[in-house]
Amino acid sequence: MLGYKVKKMKRISLVLFALMLFTTWQCAKKGPMLPLTKKWEKVVPQQEVPAGLPSLKAADCGICHPSHYEEWKLSTHAHAWSDLQFQAELKKESSPFMCINCHIPLQNQQEYIVKGLIDGDIYQPVREKNPLFDPELQKEGITCAACHVRDNVIIGPTGGNGNLPHPVVKDTVHLSSENLCINCHNAVAVLTPELACTFETGDEWKAGPFADEKDCKSCHMEPITREIMPGFGEKLTHRHYFTGSGIPKFDTVQTTVLNGLAFYPSEVLETYQAGEPLNYNFRAKNEHAGHRVPTGDPERFILFHFTLFDVAGDTLKHLTERIGEEWEWYPEAKKLTDNNLDPGEEVNYRFTPVLQDTGQYRMLVRVEKHRLNKANAEYNKLGDHYPLYIEILNREYTFKVSAEETAGGANP
Ligand code: HEC
Ligand code: HEC
Ligand code: HEC
Ligand code: HEC
Ligand code: HEC
Repeated sequence: MLGYKVKKMKRISLVLFALMLFTTWQCAKKGPMLPLTKKWEKVVPQQEVPAGLPSLKAADCGICHPSHYEEWKLSTHAHAWSDLQFQAELKKESSPFMCINCHIPLQNQQEYIVKGLIDGDIYQPVREKNPLFDPELQKEGITCAACHVRDNVIIGPTGGNGNLPHPVVKDTVHLSSENLCINCHNAVAVLTPELACTFETGDEWKAGPFADEKDCKSCHMEPITREIMPGFGEKLTHRHYFTGSGIPKFDTVQTTVLNGLAFYPSEVLETYQAGEPLNYNFRAKNEHAGHRVPTGDPERFILFHFTLFDVAGDTLKHLTERIGEEWEWYPEAKKLTDNNLDPGEEVNYRFTPVLQDTGQYRMLVRVEKHRLNKANAEYNKLGDHYPLYIEILNREYTFKVSAEETAGGANP
């Protein structure tokens, strides 16, 4: 019994010794820690709660700024951390440490302080526990403070007119679309062969016709006159819904919607002659977006469905068209196709089934905006409460097809 224990001890010490050797070797192999250099490797420094405020939390800003808070709560920004797809992707080994820097941008929101990278490798960050980590603030994603607090004070568009409960510094450069929005909404980087980050909403806007007229804020933070705090009088303010595609992040979240596309369907007659084609044209134009549609995340796409039903309600003919990008992720990230619409660009779809039989017909035209496809949603286990798309057009036409006219020499 005892002999066995001694033997076991010996074996354990041997294993330990080997382990020590291995770790020393590993350490020797490890390169030096290099400082963070790239933009998204760095986080917004730790912020103290500005004087006069209870905390940095959105709910506390909301005590005095209820309308801003209620709007922001519905925004995608408020879900940038809790989003199920983000959480699923973050857990993957292929996701480097700086994924979180645009989704929870303040050091206060991050559990670790990243001191540097071994050999400059993004997969070997040197981390230290953040003693001031605030898990509640983390849940708020792109919270008020992420945009409005720097150097421990509130950054505002006017600086206020004195007598505020919190200090305000006017900084319209920081709050500009150019700096604030584009800093996060434009990223082109190939991180590893399989991981490319490409969304170029900022570049698309700069290259488009709206660049001199309207910026991100003009369309996504519409002006409205109202009180900033109840009792302080009406002023020019801005909506904080940050409305985008309008596809909610959870089926209980009510979002606001912006649509970039304008639709120009051709006329449908009340009666057609048997043997005639329908000759239906459907033109869709990117009239309202200051960038491509869809923009941003390359998984987005738009589907156009044209369906013709016969008298019995059975499908006679169906056509589906798609706008979006297609990527191949393995063995290396590569864009295969891209027919997103530039600002002002249009497509024209033709649906021209020949109407053979007489009777009553029904045609359905539907347009859907998709956040991601079903296969990816299933792969990421997003569950049944993660809306994948919304319908933005649903138009039904009914018409009759009557027997060909024979009298009067109508047909040559
Ligand atoms: C105790 C009440 C109170 C709290 C809490 C509060 N604010 Fe304010 N805030 C005010 C008042 C009052 C004004 C000025 C209103 C006016 O001018 O009509 C103001 C103005 C502002 C402005 C506009 C400044 C400018 O330059 O025009 C911003 C931005 C702002 N607050 C952000 C925040 C944020 C972010 C928080 C939370 C971290 C917050 N506030 C918490 C009362 C508060
Ligand atoms: C002229 C108005 C306009 C301007 C300027 C504009 N946008 Fe948009 N944006 C839209 C519209 C409209 C949509 C809705 C597109 C759709 O889903 O049909 C949209 C959608 C988006 C989306 C959602 C992505 C998607 O495909 O659904 C993001 C993100 C976005 N915009 C960011 C920005 C940023 C960042 C800027 C500044 C660089 C900007 N926008 C400038 C009008 C604008
Ligand atoms: C994504 C960045 C962002 C977030 C998040 C954000 N804001 Fe703002 N906010 C802005 C910008 C940009 C302006 C300035 C608009 C301008 O005048 O150019 C602004 C303006 C304001 C103003 C001044 C009045 C107005 O509407 O112009 C107040 C007050 C304010 N924000 C409060 C809040 C509160 C409270 C929250 C959180 C509930 C919040 N903001 C979240 C970007 C943000
Ligand atoms: C700190 C980084 C950051 C800043 C600053 C920022 N955004 Fe965002 N924005 C994001 C992220 C991340 C998302 C997506 C969150 C998600 O899908 O879970 C997003 C989502 C959006 C959407 C919604 C897209 C959709 O799915 O419909 C719009 C619109 C938008 N942002 C506009 C703006 C505008 C306008 C500004 C400047 C006032 C701005 N953002 C500033 C990171 C940022
Ligand atoms: C440069 C800032 C930035 C970085 C870094 C970043 N994101 Fe994002 N992320 C965004 C923005 C902006 C959006 C919103 C894009 C849009 O809606 O057009 C977004 C949206 C998302 C979404 C939601 C997509 C959807 O369809 O709604 C997921 C998931 C996501 N990011 C995962 C990641 C992962 C994983 C990483 C690290 C590999 C990462 N992000 C790094 C800015 C960033």
